[in-house]
Order: sequence, then structure tokens, then C-alpha cells
Amino acid sequence: MVYGCTYSLFSEVLPGLGIDVSFVDTSKIENIKRAFKPETKMVFIETPANPTMTVCDITEISGLAREHGVICVVDNTFATPYFQRPLELGADVSLSSCTKYIGGHADLLGGIVAGKKDFMKCLTTIVGYTGGIMGPHEAWLCIRGLKTLHIRMERHAENAMKVAKFLESSPRVEWVRYPGLQSHPQHELVRKQMSGYSGMLSFEVRGGVEAGRKLMDNVRLCSLAVSLGATDTLIQHPASMTHACVPLVVRKRVGITDGLVRLSVGIEDPEDIIADLKQALEII
Ligand SMILES: Cc1ncc(COP(=O)(O)O)c(C=O)c1O
Repeated sequence: MVYGCTYSLFSEVLPGLGIDVSFVDTSKIENIKRAFKPETKMVFIETPANPTMTVCDITEISGLAREHGVICVVDNTFATPYFQRPLELGADVSLSSCTKYIGGHADLLGGIVAGKKDFMKCLTTIVGYTGGIMGPHEAWLCIRGLKTLHIRMERHAENAMKVAKFLESSPRVEWVRYPGLQSHPQHELVRKQMSGYSGMLSFEVRGGVEAGRKLMDNVRLCSLAVSLGATDTLIQHPASMTHACVPLVVRKRVGITDGLVRLSVGIEDPEDIIADLKQALEII
């Protein structure tokens, strides 16, 4: 899966501009091989993916894209360049939303694209004409955030591992997806291409939508909010929030179940985050 608005851009906006997009499960290379058409120009992947935490093999997919003479673009927002370096793994372009971990304090909107010189030159020209340029205040906030990225990411990851283990041990939780857990279906691949596991995880509460809603209504330290990568822990329900724009049938196919809860684990005292989730889970 990809972030909900990326899905909308690809499924609603680009076709109107004469650009066709095929959606496939990119965690299986065979699906990508089958999806190539003579006119294909780009393979776009998001790894780990929002909100399913599915991971795909950047090196393998970039190699396949190269064989077909097309570029491979990686949305690196969840991992950040601190934990995952797509260009070193063979990708042509790496992009990150700075609104998230890079800014780190939920006080700016922005994004970064990194790639080879020629590509960047072409992109800079387009951005110059179309106007998607960061204002000076956001740029300043972003640079300030960047200075603590390494410290924050270590703490996000440390806390997320503790929270993931707690959730995995809870009888109220059906399953937990965190790249750092042995139980993550692609844990070996995660270890191969990421140097840390970041702060994002998802889980399914027993009792479906109703239980999920109760959990979110009863947390006190975690904030019910979209976006991610802030210093504070954020909790949200993708089926009704970030991925509400994705049709139900697609959500079902990619595993965004109605009871799936996404957590962006912050840098607070991990015991406080766990205590908050524990008391809310006891209510459902
Ligand atoms: C993986 C991913 N990429 C991109 C974005 C878009 O970021 P922005 O809010 O900066 O447009 C998001 C937002 O949630 C995201 O989760």
C-alpha cells in the first residue's frame, strides 16, 4: 500500500494528465515484473508502507527497474534517511515528507527529493515553474529539526520496540506489525536494508471498529491525530482517517482492516506510553 493521498494522486489526478498507473503488491517482485508495459517510465515504492508496514526490497526492485530502463522512486518517509538510504541501495530517487520525522515537531509542511544530478536539475526547473517551493520559515524549522534527527530517531525506535512488545503481549491485541519484531513477515529483509526500525507500527485490536474507536476515545497521553513522526505519540484509525479516500475493496485487498490502528510512537518516557495504552485497552 501507499499513503492515502499518494493513492489518490496516482488513481485520480495522474490519469487525467494522460499518465496511467498500475497498482501491484510490490512486496512480491513477480507482481512488478508482470506489471511492466512498453510505455512504463517509473516504479514507485513506499517502504515501510503506510499503514500496513509492508516492506519491499529496494535493491531488487531498483535492479529490475534498471533492466527495463526506468527509474525507481522510493518514498522513504517512514524510515527516514537516518535508518534507510535508498540511493545507496540502488534507487534513483528518494523522497521524504519533512512534515514528519525530518521536521520532527509537527510544525511545518514540506518534502525532500534526492536523486542524481540530471534528474534534480530537471525537477528544479519544474518546481520553479509550478511553485512548490518551501517558504523561508519552514526551511528554517526544517534545518533546525534536522539537527536532532539522529537523536530523535534512536529514541523513537527504542520506544517503538518497547511499545510493540507490550502490544504483542496484550490479550486485547490480535496482531502487531513492527519491522523490528521477529514476527514481522519480512523481518530478514528489514535487517538487510534498514539500520534501525523507526517509530511507526500498526496493530489490530480484538473487537473490530468498535473496539478501535473505544481505544482511541480513551487514550490520554497519545493524541488522536493524523500525520506522524512528531515528538508526541500519535494514534489514528486509517480506515476512517488517512486512508478513508481509498475504496473499501482496495483497503481490504491490501490489509487495511477496519480494526487496524496506527501508532506513531513519540519520544516520551516509554513507560508512560505503555501505561496509557494499557489503561485504554482495559476499557475496550
Ligand atoms: C509515507 C508518506 N509519504 C508522504 C506523505 C505526505 O506528506 P505531506 O503531509 O508532507 O504531504 C505522508 C503523509 O502522511 C506519508 O505517510
